[in-house]
Amino acid sequence: MALQRPPLLILCFYLLAALHTTSDAALSSHLPQAIDCSTSRNYTSTSAYAANLNQFLAALPENAVSRNGGFFNGTVGKGTDTVYGLAMCSADYSRSDCGDCLAATANSNANGLSNLCPGSITVLAWFDPCLVRYSDTNFFGTAEIGTAFAVTRCLIFFLT
Ligand SMILES: *[C@@H]1O[C@H](CO)[C@@H](O)[C@H](O)[C@H]1NC(C)=O
Ligand SMILES: *[C@@H]1O[C@H](CO)[C@@H](O)[C@H](O)[C@H]1NC(C)=O
Repeated sequence: MALQRPPLLILCFYLLAALHTTSDAALSSHLPQAIDCSTSRNYTSTSAYAANLNQFLAALPENAVSRNGGFFNGTVGKGTDTVYGLAMCSADYSRSDCGDCLAATANSNANGLSNLCPGSITVLAWFDPCLVRYSDTNFFGTAEIGTAFAVTRCLIFFLT
């Protein structure tokens, strides 16, 4: 079966990343460039989804950086508690910076996604060195939301 990565999202992300200048401040804080946290349905901190999400995020530096050359999609859990997740590294940051960025998303303090998007089941978060997306529904191969988001970001980028 052919691998169907969201090509426009990747292209746009790499393009933006290549045009974006590296700043030490952005590197040390990993403030999100853009973030979309769903609020229509929330998970609770003691749910199976929360546990699966923590496991997914914690494994991202290893899965995306060490094993897959800067791109990873995968699932954790079963049935309605399944986390479908995707991570990408930006082209103009080192893999080490990307690993730090991904590790920070799992952090329960600072810029962890549990703080930035508390309870959100569906999230798309773009930091300078890395991008993370997850949901309880399978979006692999159906990149509409991510693509629209990336294109919007591209337009905003080029217009400002
Ligand atoms: C989900 O959580 C957000 C942020 O705390 C809140 O604004 C929103 O109303 C919640 N949604 C539901 C359906 O409870
Ligand atoms: C990753 O996404 C592709 C489609 O883009 C899908 O075929 C594949 O099953 C996904 N990988 C995992 C581990 O879910």
